[in-house]
Amino acid sequence: MSSFHDERTFERTAIALSELLDGHPVATFVIDSDHVITHWNKACEHLLGWATHEMVGTRQHWQAFYTKPRALLADLIVDNIDPATDRNFRDKYKASSLIDGAYEEEDFFPNIGAAGHWLQFTAAPLRGRDGQLVGAIQSLRDVTERRVAENALRRAHDNLEHTVRQRTAQLAEDIRQRQSAEEELRRRNIELTELNEQLSRTQQQLVQSDKLASIGQLAAGVAHEINNPIGYIFSNFGTLQSYLDSLFSMLDAYQQAEVAIVDPAVAARLRALREQVELEFLRTDIPTLMQESKEGIVRVRHIVQDLKDFSRVDSQQEWVWADLRQGIDSTLNIVANEIKYKADVVREYADIPDIECLPLQINQVAMNLLVNAAHAIGNSRGRIEVRTGCDGDDVWFSISDDGSGIAPENLGRIFDPFFTTKEVGKGTGLGLSLSYGIVQKHHGRIEVESALGKGTTFRVTLPRVRPPNEQKETPL
Ligand SMILES: Nc1ncnc2c1ncn2[C@@H]1O[C@H](COP(=O)(O)OP(=O)(O)OP(=O)(O)O)[C@@H](O)[C@H]1O
Ligand SMILES: [Mg+2]
Repeated sequence: MSSFHDERTFERTAIALSELLDGHPVATFVIDSDHVITHWNKACEHLLGWATHEMVGTRQHWQAFYTKPRALLADLIVDNIDPATDRNFRDKYKASSLIDGAYEEEDFFPNIGAAGHWLQFTAAPLRGRDGQLVGAIQSLRDVTERRVAENALRRAHDNLEHTVRQRTAQLAEDIRQRQSAEEELRRRNIELTELNEQLSRTQQQLVQSDKLASIGQLAAGVAHEINNPIGYIFSNFGTLQSYLDSLFSMLDAYQQAEVAIVDPAVAARLRALREQVELEFLRTDIPTLMQESKEGIVRVRHIVQDLKDFSRVDSQQEWVWADLRQGIDSTLNIVANEIKYKADVVREYADIPDIECLPLQINQVAMNLLVNAAHAIGNSRGRIEVRTGCDGDDVWFSISDDGSGIAPENLGRIFDPFFTTKEVGKGTGLGLSLSYGIVQKHHGRIEVESALGKGTTFRVTLPRVRPPNEQKETPL
């Protein structure tokens, strides 16, 4: 009686459940503990395309989803199998957070509908009044739209990321290009600054050579004008001296003859006249005056010669191949006296090829620089270093001293003719301007580096081969 009652109750419950599920919009089916479908609601029919009467009473629920028989979540629940141990579910299922013992799963089913569907399953155990497992209920929701939207979103997101990556790369490239452009600009700027400095150096040299040119012309003119009169003054002077010598010996003869004069009046007049002209004084003073004048004339001749050298109107040297080191060494010998009490000379010669030059003039440059170096050294013993070297097609020599150095305000003037800081009689101020002209004639350059109180280095750089347009002597 009681079992009959139970069956009736179950049947009533089953019918009620059937009605409930049919009216329910969520696709749902139920299986009993033998995996037999007991319910397959209208929404299920609609969603999966399998009719209730085809399914209920069978174990074919798999075929609504798959092409081959396999367990669904509801089957696992009925068999009490943990989905974690089943390779079909391991990576897809999760335990439901709402219903105890229920699982959820989401998957794509390509065979459902025309283009397949994304379904979300929830399967839960069904228990009898005594808690015993009597089946399982599985509901499914079509989440295709959500997944499609999600996919679209993901794609959009991916696109966005791609675009961002692309833009970032583009930006990085832009930055790199800008940096390299800036680098290029900086390099150009440095080049430009160097060029500018070179230009201003060249300009200074031009100004210098311009000054030299006009001073040279002036010097050549003055030298020419003075040279002739000095020439005949000098030769007349020699004649004058021999005339005076004759006159004095004539006077001596007259003086000796004085005693023979019988007329006392004549003798007295001669004596008075002799005293009046201070003949004895004249006799000693005239040779002194003559000597001094001669020295003066010799000095004037020297100055004229220097001026001529400076303008090089009469230099008749030959261009020859020569070793700079030999020239410097012989010059060092000549100025040895000037240097040996003041400084030690250190030679550091690098191997250099012969150069085509006017060796005597180059020696003159070396001499001016060496004498200047010696002059710059004060009371304590100094050191003069002479170096040679090559620089591409150029050959150079340098002379360094550890002397007084050159005041910055004077640096721009040392090559000016007649610029000197030396006391009167010690320097004419022509040494460096002369040297400058000589170096320029060789198409070389002369550079100076100096630190006040520390010392000075002059460096003369000359091209190895004579410049092609330097074919004939040209005064400055
Ligand atoms: N090595 C040096 N150290 C310090 N000052 C120097 C040096 N060389 C040249 N000078 C300065 O440059 C000036 C000009 O030199 P420059 O050789 O043209 O003339 P100078 O030596 O004064 O006279 P000169 O050479 O005609 O006898 C010098 O008076 C000196 O002030
Ligand atoms: Mg000098």
